[in-house]
Amino acid sequence: MSSKILIIGACGQIGTELTTKLREIHGVDNVVASDINTRNLELVNAGPFVILDAKNFNAIKDCCISHKIDTIYLMAALLSATGEKYPMEAWDLNMNSLFHVLNLAKTKQIKKIFWPSSIAVFGPTTPREHTPQHTICEPTTVYGITKQVGERWCEYYYNKYDVDVRSIRYPGIISHKAMPGGGTTDYAVEIYHEAIKKGKYESFLSEKTHLPMMFMDDAIKATIDIMSVPSKDLTIRSSYNLSAISFTPEDIANSIKAEIPHFTITYKPDFRQEIADSWPSSIDDSVARKDWNWSHDFNLERMTSEMLTNLNKKYKP
Ligand code: SER
Repeated sequence: MSSKILIIGACGQIGTELTTKLREIHGVDNVVASDINTRNLELVNAGPFVILDAKNFNAIKDCCISHKIDTIYLMAALLSATGEKYPMEAWDLNMNSLFHVLNLAKTKQIKKIFWPSSIAVFGPTTPREHTPQHTICEPTTVYGITKQVGERWCEYYYNKYDVDVRSIRYPGIISHKAMPGGGTTDYAVEIYHEAIKKGKYESFLSEKTHLPMMFMDDAIKATIDIMSVPSKDLTIRSSYNLSAISFTPEDIANSIKAEIPHFTITYKPDFRQEIADSWPSSIDDSVARKDWNWSHDFNLERMTSEMLTNLNKKYKP
């Protein structure tokens, strides 16, 4: 029997593409998209859609009952940069939404949950290169704190209540459909849009800021894969390290220049530089590769080519 899936935060950067992919796999009517508003009309009109506040337990519960949901992907969150501006709002949304779905799963109404963590669980005291799965996690952002605490709660609910919750620590995600919002890694998306529109970009991170990143197709593949493996194969119930590519603003600019020779970049670091400096530059994801055969497909060159081709179609049809 096919799963009946609810995606919370379906209009966001990852939610948009995850919804499309899950509908391809499970059928449009088996995947209910939800978000706090209808900002992505294409997605809203593409299949079942519910306006849902991720902070409202009863609303999530009622939606799950009326649509006979057994699997939830909780993609709603305030990201790192926005979280620094609105700390209490970030705590409220990121933690309460997680408790709501964990508590629904505790009653066995929900059989399986996906909840994303992030490289933001790490902090300035974490080993920066090839950051191991198990290491020091002393995050210095509110977003990172919510992810770290969230990971502990996921593992707790798995151990105490047998809740089948699965999680990966996403790096910065690069995509050409929905824009990211409020993250420190957003520059790596904006740069492609500005390259096509204006031929230049001013980066809010310095040229040598090396961060772990991933093309959206790989992120979606990882998400689908971890949700598809037998529960017994998973040895991590907090969150898996996940890695694909790591680069600096200078590297990505050079990969764009290879296709758009007149492209120029300037650097004007802002408050997000401090956040980026607290995160690893590369991640060791060998446990994910071993447990559920994770592997990525996109390197920087292939990603740049894919981004520029698709954004060219969007801006210069
Ligand atoms: N992309 C996120 C951010 O920058 C990290 O998970 O906040």
